[in-house]
Amino acid sequence: MIRTSIASIFLKRFEKNQSVLSSSQTLRHLHKSVPCLKKAPKNLKGKSASSQRWMVRQLSDPYVQKAAVDNFRCRSAYKLIEMDDKFRFLKPGLAVVDCGACPGSWTQVAVNRVNAAEGFPRGMVVGVDLQHMSPIPGAKLLSNCDFTLEETQEHIRKHLPNGKADVVLSDMAPNATGLASLDHDQIVSLQLSAFKFSKVVLREDGVFVCKLWDGSHCKKFQSVVGDVFKFVKVVKPQSSRSNSAELFVFARGYKKIRQDS
Ligand SMILES: C[S@@+](CC[C@H](N)C(=O)[O-])C[C@H]1O[C@@H](n2cnc3c(N)ncnc32)[C@H](O)[C@@H]1O
Repeated sequence: MIRTSIASIFLKRFEKNQSVLSSSQTLRHLHKSVPCLKKAPKNLKGKSASSQRWMVRQLSDPYVQKAAVDNFRCRSAYKLIEMDDKFRFLKPGLAVVDCGACPGSWTQVAVNRVNAAEGFPRGMVVGVDLQHMSPIPGAKLLSNCDFTLEETQEHIRKHLPNGKADVVLSDMAPNATGLASLDHDQIVSLQLSAFKFSKVVLREDGVFVCKLWDGSHCKKFQSVVGDVFKFVKVVKPQSSRSNSAELFVFARGYKKIRQDS
């Protein structure tokens, strides 16, 4: 209650540019978990505590600033870049499916690395998301589509050469509720659907990469994936926030023959 009134007094003064305290002192009163900033956010009036935290975090995040300079739609681009720099799986000429592609930074990275817009050999990228995505040259985007539906997956397959892909990426995430175990269960369920789809579309030796939020089913998920891929590793890119439960399962060497048998 006291914090709320201090915050609203501060916000009024802040917006009128009346500096009553140093910025590190005043920002402490915005919300308990808002970190101190070098650059003060503007337009905080009327914003919820979580929006304030988000704005402060965005402004102080070097990957957000780098993404703006490099013309990526969001900072997530660097997670895929780091994984691909490590495992070298996005090569010119490959066909890639990007599940949960909005706003599109993974698609941008994939288009560039497989030559989907220009160059030879020419690759392709199909991105799908529940939300609307603005066009990305070289990519086929399926907006407003629920990936988990059979009709969406059929639609994706129709865009792939012979209905087959070399790489399935899934950065899909549900809207987080804040209840860790519920959020974990929901993301595992989404990624199981991406995993099942990858078993249908991947060519032999194909690659599957998906995001999880750490929790009780991670080990089991890894082992199920390991049954049909030669190599599976859990990775936490440096650009993934250290305070986030996010991690990625990287699997390469899809064992198509064993799957079909
Ligand atoms: C973290 S964002 C992806 C960011 C993206 N990789 C990028 O780099 O721009 C997660 C996305 O998953 C999408 N998503 C969640 N459930 C989905 C579903 N059932 N079908 C399709 N997309 C889904 C959300 O709409 C959201 O845009």
